Amino acid sequence: MTCFDEAPTTPGYARYLAAKTTVDDRALNRQVLAELRRLMPAGAPRVLEVGAGLGTMVARLLDWGVVSAGEYVLLDADRQLLDCSRQWLHDWAAARGVRTDALPDGLRVGDLRVRLVHAELGDYLELAPEELADVLIANAVLDLVDVPAVLPGLLGLLVPGGVYWFTINYDGETIFEPGHPLDDQVMDAYHRDMDERIRYGRPAGESRTGRRLFRHLRDARAPALAAGSSDWVVYPARDGNGNYPADEAYFLRSILETIREALRDRPDRVEPADLADWLGVRSRQLAGGDLVYIAHQLDFAGRSPG
Ligand SMILES: C[S@@+](CC[C@H](N)C(=O)[O-])C[C@H]1O[C@@H](n2cnc3c(N)ncnc32)[C@H](O)[C@@H]1O
Repeated sequence: MTCFDEAPTTPGYARYLAAKTTVDDRALNRQVLAELRRLMPAGAPRVLEVGAGLGTMVARLLDWGVVSAGEYVLLDADRQLLDCSRQWLHDWAAARGVRTDALPDGLRVGDLRVRLVHAELGDYLELAPEELADVLIANAVLDLVDVPAVLPGLLGLLVPGGVYWFTINYDGETIFEPGHPLDDQVMDAYHRDMDERIRYGRPAGESRTGRRLFRHLRDARAPALAAGSSDWVVYPARDGNGNYPADEAYFLRSILETIREALRDRPDRVEPADLADWLGVRSRQLAGGDLVYIAHQLDFAGRSPG
């Protein structure tokens, strides 16, 4: 299996997540990150990341010196993606001269034991696992689940007073530049699709997750101790040649493809000819290095009740 080819299956998704890394690096809110550092337990904590995908966050947190030892669990519903994460984390560590060792259920990266857990989040919560985490992370995930239904159980995966860091929560605002007359119609239709989405037999997300998390966290007796914006801002590199940094052109192509997939069977919301026109214009702007993309998102850090 190759993990980073162009196929529109899970491996293509792995490349999208890898391409997203540099976009998230810029976007993650530094004040909220500083709060996470302040709250982070000393020693060798047990960290659980839900919807962890390839594991780019554990790599980032090692790079940024936020974690170094202990256990870090990557939980995801996509088994192929978790398989790809072994290769991706191994290659990431090798490029930095960090030693990795294969383990039956994951790998050791330096002094950190990374465990891979294949589970759908709702099913995992129903199992009520006994092993609790000191730190709970969800990056670009809570807008894919039914937050009011899931949040109490999610916080229950933490020891009392454990730390959460919920980041890159989409908040209903997307800007493409230059403007196009169909922008509002396309994005309204895309947001409706987000609001109605069902995955794994459960309601799967909401287009205004970011702003609503303030109330949901308060209702769950875990109000945010820090919150701030973490907008994705993607634009051509400063070289003036219209090239996007790293693999961010692929990231933008994936965003356009996601919108196409969501709306192609909704002629009642966007006429197929209009959608084709909008996507054609956006793809040409991307190829020419003229497309700027901004998505508004919010980050939160705090403690579980107790
Ligand atoms: C947008 S990706 C983000 C991945 C990773 N956190 C990152 O930022 O690179 C969302 C991830 O959540 C996983 N996911 C979505 N719904 C899930 C669910 N109900 N249970 C477990 N994983 C889920 C997907 O398989 C995917 O890997």
